[in-house]
Amino acid sequence: MHDDIERILISEQEIRSAIARVAAEVTSAYAGRDFTVVAVLKGSCVFASDLIRSIPIPLELAFLAASSYGTGTTSKELRISFVPLDSEIAGKNLLLVDDILDTGRTLHRLKQEMLARGAAEVRTCVLLDKPARRSVEFEADFRCFEVQDLFVVGFGLDFAGRYRNLPYVGALKPAAFQRLQAAH
Ligand code: IMP
Ligand code: MG
Repeated sequence: MHDDIERILISEQEIRSAIARVAAEVTSAYAGRDFTVVAVLKGSCVFASDLIRSIPIPLELAFLAASSYGTGTTSKELRISFVPLDSEIAGKNLLLVDDILDTGRTLHRLKQEMLARGAAEVRTCVLLDKPARRSVEFEADFRCFEVQDLFVVGFGLDFAGRYRNLPYVGALKPAAFQRLQAAH
């Protein structure tokens, strides 16, 4: 798997320190208030599990599943396949956590959806932000890194379902892209 990576863009150490910084920001933003971290599956599972363990104040955890990418690298229609229980949303302060803010469609839509289901407040936190790709006006409240317009994998981010378990964020070799694209 590591052989498919052309170069490492963000190392494990860099990710660790950025998560510590963002966890401290989240901690002071929610000090003294109840809140629920809503991890957007599948991409945020690695980031969210590291993030919550660096937040030393009470929180609850919920999950939401949305997918837009399939096997390609360009956005398709968003499908929400799993949402928290109404009792986990209504009247709650939610922090939606996702792997990457790209066109902005996913988090924009999920935020609207949570507010429509009665959330008291919805904020967002992402590992990566690709502002160059935005197609709807949307900014995350918390983010670890801004990245250039380049398809990346690792630390939860996939291509064709693979590479989520890489402990760093990297760029794929063109040959790996082509191999996986041909297999689908
Ligand atoms: P958005 O709706 O365009 O903001 O896209 C968000 C989703 O697209 C993310 O949760 C990822 O699943 C996927 N995505 C966007 N850019 C990348 C990338 O560079 N690598 C892997 N997945 C990506
Ligand atoms: Mg995703």
